[in-house]
Amino acid sequence: MERLVEIERFDAEESCEITLRPSAWNEYIGQEQIKKNLGVFIEASKKRQEALDHVLFFGPPGLGKTTLALIIANEMNANIKVTAAPMIEKSGDLAAILTNLEEGDILFIDEIHRLSPAVEEILYSSMEDFRIDIIIGSGPAAQTVKIDLPRFTLIGATTRAGMLSNPLRDRFGMNFRMQFYTPDELAKIVSQASNKLNKEIAHEASIEIAKRSRGTPRIALRLLRRVRDFADVANEKNILHSRTKYALDELGINSYGFDEMDIRLLTLLVGANGRAMGLSTIAAALSEDEGTVEDVLEPYLIANGYLERTAKGRKATRSTYEILNFTIPTLDDGGLF
Ligand SMILES: Nc1ncnc2c1ncn2[C@@H]1O[C@H](COP(=O)(O)OP(=O)(O)OP(=O)(O)O)[C@@H](O)[C@H]1O
Ligand SMILES: [Mg+2]
Repeated sequence: MERLVEIERFDAEESCEITLRPSAWNEYIGQEQIKKNLGVFIEASKKRQEALDHVLFFGPPGLGKTTLALIIANEMNANIKVTAAPMIEKSGDLAAILTNLEEGDILFIDEIHRLSPAVEEILYSSMEDFRIDIIIGSGPAAQTVKIDLPRFTLIGATTRAGMLSNPLRDRFGMNFRMQFYTPDELAKIVSQASNKLNKEIAHEASIEIAKRSRGTPRIALRLLRRVRDFADVANEKNILHSRTKYALDELGINSYGFDEMDIRLLTLLVGANGRAMGLSTIAAALSEDEGTVEDVLEPYLIANGYLERTAKGRKATRSTYEILNFTIPTLDDGGLF
């Protein structure tokens, strides 16, 4: 069974995401700082009629990295080739992609932290020198052929900034960290999407969905579609606040936007009764790797004050104890409150 507040995208969702995906700046809500900076760089490079510098987006899934890449291509009037690191297995695969680019094209590589070292090396030389060295043949007869590439723009996206090698990271002229969205921003995204679905939504209803969406547009849009189903079945023309609350409660979406992993992680920490817990212990207890805990699970919880990173490890905060209905530990428990 698929979990509604899962941040990763479900396969069946892809076509829906395409319909609801904003294609211009004015529909892209929030991330104001990023939009402002990118706007300047895009305008400058258009004025100079040059390709845009390479751009890296990092941040948890579903915050709008792919969407931004597509908007940049739109603004630059550039062709965009979309691929993902796991699809580029050998250096030859990357060479084929690169040599097929044209001047000013954009190459979008999703999950860029998953490139193999050999592929990565070719990528960063091509980013810097717009040239690649390809080895043809093998053994003593092998030859190196240098191929010049057109000036292209690489847009990389990653949920795991910590896994990117330094040489690769350094070759991006722009580096943007995506922020979680505020409930107000998410509410705007929800009502804009609702319009596209030809359904009017009450303001309080979009706020209700926003509050339960873990700061993430992908989750907000998913909840909107489920709520719309409830409204349709009830033959309601508009999406009402009462129906929204009813639907979200029926679906078991809690009002803090936690997903099942969040709850497992927080329950684990609360169980430590005020003591800090190390990252490796947490990862082992959840059967996740440390990087996923650190880059995918924790950012939302930290940003919203449910979890703290201390020198000794991770701790649940006071509000987490309250939310999960646990007694707040005292200093006598060995806790730190
Ligand atoms: N700022 C925004 N305004 C409006 N809609 C947005 C915004 N950001 C994202 N969305 C919507 O949320 C959905 C998910 O966004 P997107 O696919 O760009 O996320 P992502 O960061 O690339 O996720 P992943 O890391 O899983 O690839 C898209 O359908 C898009 O329409
Ligand atoms: Mg994406």
